[in-house]
Amino acid sequence: MLTIAISKGRILKDTLPLLAEAGIEPSEDLSVTRKLIIPSICGEVNLVIIRATDVPTFVEYGAADVGITGKDTLVEHNSDNLYEPLDLEIAKCRLMTAVVTGRELPVGKIRVASKYVSLTEQYFAKKGQQVEIIKLYGSMELAPLVGLADCIVDLVDTGNTLKANGMEPLDLIMNISSRLVINKASMKMKHQQIKALTEKLKIAVDNRR
Ligand code: ATP
Ligand code: PRP
Repeated sequence: MLTIAISKGRILKDTLPLLAEAGIEPSEDLSVTRKLIIPSICGEVNLVIIRATDVPTFVEYGAADVGITGKDTLVEHNSDNLYEPLDLEIAKCRLMTAVVTGRELPVGKIRVASKYVSLTEQYFAKKGQQVEIIKLYGSMELAPLVGLADCIVDLVDTGNTLKANGMEPLDLIMNISSRLVINKASMKMKHQQIKALTEKLKIAVDNRR
């Protein structure tokens, strides 16, 4: 049995068609069921549906053999125990800094709100900019509007959220998409099954280009 950890939220709706093309379909309607472990129709796979930020942890510890989550989450998690063999080219967006439109950043140490504490720290350290990081779990765009931070580090896709809140993107930190990740031990123990899955997903990704 192969266990695949899938991110709920916005990655899920793009993940399911890809998995279906690879022959893996949940035996229950994921939008209805309250179950957290869902067998596939083929009976060879269990799907576990968890938060995107928890996927690297499940796969790192071998609780899932394989996972699908965003590059942002993977870089922030920073594990050595994962293979990342395939860019699934779904849930594409950009990790950016953003400010209130037209507002200059103060001189000296700045306050930055983000849920990506490690990525933010590394990005500003490289630039030689001193920062105080305010960890938030969502709605980052609010922080500069209420005086909590001078700027934010967050994901941008259409730019609508920034615009709706009187903000603008500043610098690109990283292009983001969702990736297939694999536990290193599982890669040895379940090599045939994982290799077959990776190949089928690669074909599905290639077919969409
Ligand atoms: P978590 O539940 O793990 O805290 P979340 O509630 O922010 O995360 P989502 O909003 O579903 O969960 O985002 C999950 C992933 O989807 C992100 O890590 C990123 O890779 C991708 N993503 C987030 N926002 C966008 C967007 N606007 N456009 C495209 N992809 C996005
Ligand atoms: C994500 C991200 C931005 C928004 C960007 O938020 O954090 O707020 O999408 O997308 P856009 O550029 O197309 O507007 P999400 O909707 O996941 O909510 P969150 O703030 O709870 O993370």
